[in-house]
Amino acid sequence: MNVVILGANGFIGSHLSERILAETDWTVSALDLHAHHLEHCLTDPRFVFRKGDLLAESAWIEEQIRAADVVLPLVGIAQPAYYVKNPLYVFELDFEQNLKIVRMCVTHSKRVLFPSTSEVYGLCPDKELSEDESLLVLGPVSKMRWIYSCSKQMMDRVLAAYGQERGLRFTCFRPFNWTGPRLDEPADAERGTARVITQFLFNLVHGRPLHLVGGGRQRRSFTSIHDGIDALLAIVRNERNNLDGEILNIGNPANQASVKELAHLVRDAAAAYPKYAPLAAAAVIADIPEDDYYGKGYADVQHRVPSIAKAERLLSWRPKRTLEDIVRDTVHYYLGDGGAWA
Ligand code: UGA
Repeated sequence: MNVVILGANGFIGSHLSERILAETDWTVSALDLHAHHLEHCLTDPRFVFRKGDLLAESAWIEEQIRAADVVLPLVGIAQPAYYVKNPLYVFELDFEQNLKIVRMCVTHSKRVLFPSTSEVYGLCPDKELSEDESLLVLGPVSKMRWIYSCSKQMMDRVLAAYGQERGLRFTCFRPFNWTGPRLDEPADAERGTARVITQFLFNLVHGRPLHLVGGGRQRRSFTSIHDGIDALLAIVRNERNNLDGEILNIGNPANQASVKELAHLVRDAAAAYPKYAPLAAAAVIADIPEDDYYGKGYADVQHRVPSIAKAERLLSWRPKRTLEDIVRDTVHYYLGDGGAWA
């Protein structure tokens, strides 16, 4: 099998690339602006890497798609701080640039696996969010946070329409707070634009407060990146040929925690490293209003739990890692010996 991964150096792309090379005999055609998370892949003759972006590399990308069995367009902005500060860029990259890739897949009749998001459910009150039943509920346009959710939802709908009218073979997967090594870059955390666990760690290491936006009672279902990649590999394999036209939540409903509980878990995990124990002991966990942290265009989701019945049924997959495993794994990557921020 020949797999095209656009955005291969990213959080999902780099883990997927590594696992493909380690566990299969497939070849990978990969594109990214950077390659620092791909050092184990670059030396493998089955991994062809092109440095560049979606805009400038259209011709190369189309050539790869023509020769591909499966295409994963993983390039996108996925940090809420950017949805608020750079909403147009989020739309242009996450929707417009990716639409170009989707259309290439239509032209060349290639199977495409697209990253949708838990964010498409927005403010839906369902206790468990279901791919084929839950309503997708967004806030007003003045709340820019929803431009990401809306762009992703639109792409889900465009894919479904291409499936119906032009026979496109597609599967959408919806990550629910996939977490683990390489989630965010130090530059993001320095700017205060990282996802919650990496932002907490960075702040702790730099003696800054761990901010609980809006008080920290909002809850998420955290999913290990490794469980996410297990599911994604099963989607690529499509062994039972039952995934065309399907949307799948990939999350862990057992790993629910409030942001406040997460802050305490991160602080306790950092305290296990002698070098960081004093910083952990001194770490302040402090409330901050949403507008002060993200700006006026922010809105939050209070509760987000996936139903994974469909993924379990179609993929024979179940997430295995606990929240404690996830925090330990992530903290170790950033703070362990030779760690990214050690
Ligand atoms: C994420 C992102 O939109 C995407 O990565 C993705 O599509 C999706 O959800 C997902 O992975 O399921 P969110 O869950 O809000 O959105 O991601 P974070 O930025 O990690 O924030 C989680 C919560 O922590 C939010 O309520 C946020 O306000 C809070 N937070 C964040 C803090 O309290 N303190 C911080 O320093 C950072």
